[in-house]
Amino acid sequence: MPATTHRSLGGALVGEHLAVLRSVSTATGDFRRAVARLSTLVLSAALDDLDGTVGEVTSPVGPAATLRAGRITVVPVLRAGLGMLEPALNLLPDSTRVAFVGARRDEATLEPSFYLDAVPADLSGDDVVILDVMIATGGSLAATIEVVRTRNPRSLHVAGIIAAPEGLAHIAGLFPDVLVTVAVVDDHLNASGFIVPGLGDAGDRLYGT
Ligand code: PRP
Repeated sequence: MPATTHRSLGGALVGEHLAVLRSVSTATGDFRRAVARLSTLVLSAALDDLDGTVGEVTSPVGPAATLRAGRITVVPVLRAGLGMLEPALNLLPDSTRVAFVGARRDEATLEPSFYLDAVPADLSGDDVVILDVMIATGGSLAATIEVVRTRNPRSLHVAGIIAAPEGLAHIAGLFPDVLVTVAVVDDHLNASGFIVPGLGDAGDRLYGT
């Protein structure tokens, strides 16, 4: 049986926030809030089966078994992934670290250009979560996974908001062991590299540019 390479969310709560993201008439602040809310939902799903360490605390009633997370490093992909950072830090343990990568697509060739690698040299003790709003061709995510992999993370997770089937297939072909969790998988990628129906350009809509 082939490995599961992606999963998406469903239901009207996700649908409500997606409707805000998709609408061309959504203002910048509302767009940011919808990204933040969906980020919390997607991250919860992406880390649903995170491994941890067994221990114990004392509740007012007596001993209680615990399963605590290890150190997590989140990697937002600039620029749009920054919109997922604050909700991630609100949700994840206080020890969570942040490492940055910068990737932008050439609008003509759709090839990713990787312009920043601020990822620690050694991530061997960390569970790493890559954050990016859009997976279109999958080129930016593939370049990011390649870099993060060279730092030997204990585990690697990807949380996104919206993906094209073409981009997910590209990632699955290159990294069949990486599970990508997104809020929604859309219909297709058009000739200009936009996800259809999509939400336009996430970076521009998040930052009003
Ligand atoms: C967008 C998005 C992803 C990438 C997805 O970034 O945030 O990083 O495109 O496209 P791909 O899957 O085809 O690589 P963009 O290049 O617009 O840069 P920005 O986030 O700085 O706006």
